Amino acid sequence: MQQGAESKEQGVRRGSRWAVPTTSNLKFQVNRGLHRFAVLTAGATFVLIFMGGLVTSTGSGLAVPDWPLSFGQVFPPMVGGVLYEHGHRMMAALVGLLTTILAVWIYLRDPRGWVRGLGVAALMAIILQGLLGGLTVLLLLPTPVSVAHACLAQGFFCLTVALAVFTGPGWRERYGSVGKQENRGPRAVSPTPPRSRPPLLSLTQWGALTTAVIYIQLILGAVMRHMGAGLAIPDFPLAYGRLVPPLESEAIFVHFLHRLGALLVTLCVVWTFLRVARHHRQGPVLLRPASLLVVLLVIQVTLGAFTIWTLKAVLPTTAHVAVGAALLATSLVLTLRAHRLPASPKFATNLGFVSSKEVPA
Ligand code: HEM
Repeated sequence: MQQGAESKEQGVRRGSRWAVPTTSNLKFQVNRGLHRFAVLTAGATFVLIFMGGLVTSTGSGLAVPDWPLSFGQVFPPMVGGVLYEHGHRMMAALVGLLTTILAVWIYLRDPRGWVRGLGVAALMAIILQGLLGGLTVLLLLPTPVSVAHACLAQGFFCLTVALAVFTGPGWRERYGSVGKQENRGPRAVSPTPPRSRPPLLSLTQWGALTTAVIYIQLILGAVMRHMGAGLAIPDFPLAYGRLVPPLESEAIFVHFLHRLGALLVTLCVVWTFLRVARHHRQGPVLLRPASLLVVLLVIQVTLGAFTIWTLKAVLPTTAHVAVGAALLATSLVLTLRAHRLPASPKFATNLGFVSSKEVPA
């Protein structure tokens, strides 16, 4: 066991297939079981978001009037809306359990204090999320509480996805074999002569901005959904047959903002993709999430259109919530990967940018 670890480490030093050589990333060993468990927790959270969307889409939010029990029982008869509402509670309990195990596992096994802190933050977030869910039911679905519940759901999902990234081998190995590097700010090593005019934002900063814009769009979606403004503008792609609808009510205003938000998200995603396709097309590390972003965006806009054309049929409306979460998570993964790309001369050696003689031992 010990010998295996040593030979792996020697492999790292020689720059073999194990990892890009660096002293800092030797500080933690990837625990594959822990990583897989983090991926499982993120996957279960995605299913939970879909099930939460089903509760609202089917109008089952108050199908079970009490909390934390359901009709005073742990497992009531699953009839009508109870199936969705209680099913959502069951899935939430499972995610709560998974998160608790994940946080404890990380705390015991991961030496990085900031990752342990994130594990604890995820645990706090799922507890708060459960309380908000219960409060929503007990207070008869007040809009601010329902919106907070929807937004924290997406934030919690981001935490689980980030934990899956941080515990993975890619993070440890700094996504070793990537293609041509983009200008990434002061730490960057460029394989080509420096540009005359570096981009205003590094890819990491741009990715973070795109992720934030998508998150704001999700908040707008949640506000619109919970204030019942989903059909406040009944036609699409036009709005009341015009480009700009008469902004006569709050509902129309929020709905129109969501459509403008979709435009902004589209611009950010397309720009991210073009940038990655131009500077990182050799390796899949960034190209894969960037391409996935574009595919998800097309699906998301189509689902948004069908939500309106079908007068909020359950399936397209619920899928619209879930794909929104997938867009957010994909953008986050791309951002984290861009941040973690090799940036010091040591990494550049591995990528063939700098002669190994130039690298201090
Ligand atoms: C392109 C990026 C988009 C994203 C990320 C996005 C995301 C979302 C999310 C997450 C929700 C639900 C929020 C929640 O309940 O928690 C939502 C609601 C909604 N979205 Fe979008 N959306 C996008 C584009 C569009 C487009 C182009 C349309 C078409 C008009 C649209 C129409 C709607 C409608 C009608 C609802 C409310 C559904 C209801 O009342 O049940 N969305 N959106």
